[in-house]
Amino acid sequence: MTQRARDATERATLRTSASESGVIIEVRDVGKSFPLEGKEVKVLSGIDLDVTAGEFVALIGPSGCGKTTLLNLVAGLVQPTTGQIRYEGHEVRGINTHVGYVTQKDTLLPWRTVEGNIAVALDVQRVPAAEKRQRVQAFVKKVGLSGFERHLPHQISGGMRSRVAIARTLIYNPTTIIMDEPFAALDALLRLRLQTELLDIWSEFKTTILYVTHDLSEAIALADRVLVFTQRPARIKLDQRVELPRPRDISKVHTTHEFGELYDLLWRALREEVWIEG
Ligand SMILES: Nc1ncnc2c1ncn2[C@@H]1O[C@H](COP(=O)(O)OP(=O)(O)OP(=O)(O)O)[C@@H](O)[C@H]1O
Ligand SMILES: [Mg+2]
Repeated sequence: MTQRARDATERATLRTSASESGVIIEVRDVGKSFPLEGKEVKVLSGIDLDVTAGEFVALIGPSGCGKTTLLNLVAGLVQPTTGQIRYEGHEVRGINTHVGYVTQKDTLLPWRTVEGNIAVALDVQRVPAAEKRQRVQAFVKKVGLSGFERHLPHQISGGMRSRVAIARTLIYNPTTIIMDEPFAALDALLRLRLQTELLDIWSEFKTTILYVTHDLSEAIALADRVLVFTQRPARIKLDQRVELPRPRDISKVHTTHEFGELYDLLWRALREEVWIEG
């Protein structure tokens, strides 16, 4: 059995145990404040959220409302001021190693090449060299970086750096993938290709995905649920199911009547939060 097959089996087992209760991520009445110039700024307030194992949830809301903060809380990078976050039934108190995080800020290791960065998690897991090479090569190809394997991060473009960050996370099959505007810096065609690739990976492994985007069309096209956040302190204003059939053709899904109706509904909720009257 290859490491990849073993990983898939382990993940399937984890998924089965998580899906017995169904819920993998529980956010219970979470509030978060940060100190600013001697005062406390309230960023999140009364957030309640259950995410079912295997669900694809998109988060959308005004800039600075607290979306990244919520992702950081689920990843265990920051702790809530009030309330509790649970993952697979356990309170998240430190770094949550079950989640792979494609952060909004690029965190590539500057001294490692493209393939070295993609291989980081496999190095930590001590995956044998031959298998590591094979898996890295497959992901280099998937994200369109063939020929750049030996380049260092400062020698490639911003969009290419985000592709390295995505490959680096997807390669080790985490139970949950958290993505913070992962495709924002990419051109439209590449974005389409990677969105399709992400949906393929998601349906193959039934990974749970939390996905922040500023693009409402992208949120609807990809997700099972779209959460609309208010301005700071952010609350969940609307939690909307997306019942569009799967598999979805990302290049065409926006042309359907159902898509248009969902777009209108979500935009009405969002525009009150982001629209600045001129
Ligand atoms: N570690 C921190 N210390 C102090 N303030 C913070 C910290 N992290 C976030 N904030 C503040 O919390 C607020 C929400 O930030 P956050 O990054 O979560 O917003 P966001 O919704 O992701 O915005 P954007 O869409 O622009 O990425 C901002 O005002 C930010 O300055
Ligand atoms: Mg953010």
